[in-house]
Amino acid sequence: MVITVAFDVYGTLIDTQGIVTALGARMGDRAAEFSRAWREKQLEYTFRRGLMQNYQDFSVCVRDAFDYTNSSFGSPFGQEERTYLLAAYEKLPAFPDAKGGLAAVRQDGHRLFAFSNGRADTVAALLKNARLLSYFNDIVSVDDMKSFKPNPGVYAHFLRQAGAAGASAWLVSSNPFDVIGAVSAGMRAAWIKRSPDALFDSWGIEPSLVVPGLGELAEGIRRQTA
Ligand code: LAC
Repeated sequence: MVITVAFDVYGTLIDTQGIVTALGARMGDRAAEFSRAWREKQLEYTFRRGLMQNYQDFSVCVRDAFDYTNSSFGSPFGQEERTYLLAAYEKLPAFPDAKGGLAAVRQDGHRLFAFSNGRADTVAALLKNARLLSYFNDIVSVDDMKSFKPNPGVYAHFLRQAGAAGASAWLVSSNPFDVIGAVSAGMRAAWIKRSPDALFDSWGIEPSLVVPGLGELAEGIRRQTA
């Protein structure tokens, strides 16, 4: 059976902690902490803007979250470094298992989409830079809907754009809020649990599949759809 697979981008295919290297020179051993705080603030801003119905695209959330995080760490970065770091965020690296994982799902004959909070042009450039773009049939962005995950409208938009029905469409994400959002909106969803310590919210809305990495995804989907 041919299924439609929507891959989350930031945190699933692309490693947002990859910015730690660029932060490292100034932040030293607090670089990972800064990076995590920045990422969490970005997501908070998407949730808040979604609820407020006051949309600004994801790059604005990333920039505003940087400014907040920088202030909260005592403003270690000046204007020039800010410009450099925001540009570096558009060239983040892929997770090591991304290429093989995508190739295996494609090999099984499925339709692959990147589905992201990021704008389509930003996501295309990010995936191209990480050498992942060629695996995808297309990119679907929440930007078309002027809202963010996990608004059910953005998952419905994905299904319309991809020409797919919920039961034969999977979301693949490391972000539990995204997995829960997709299942709640009628899709199936795989949670990429890269760390044994990663927690999933106990809301009673479970992933359809849990795998430890993208390398195990194709086999997992095969088992679930046989
Ligand atoms: C994305 C965010 C959720 O790529 O990571 O959509």
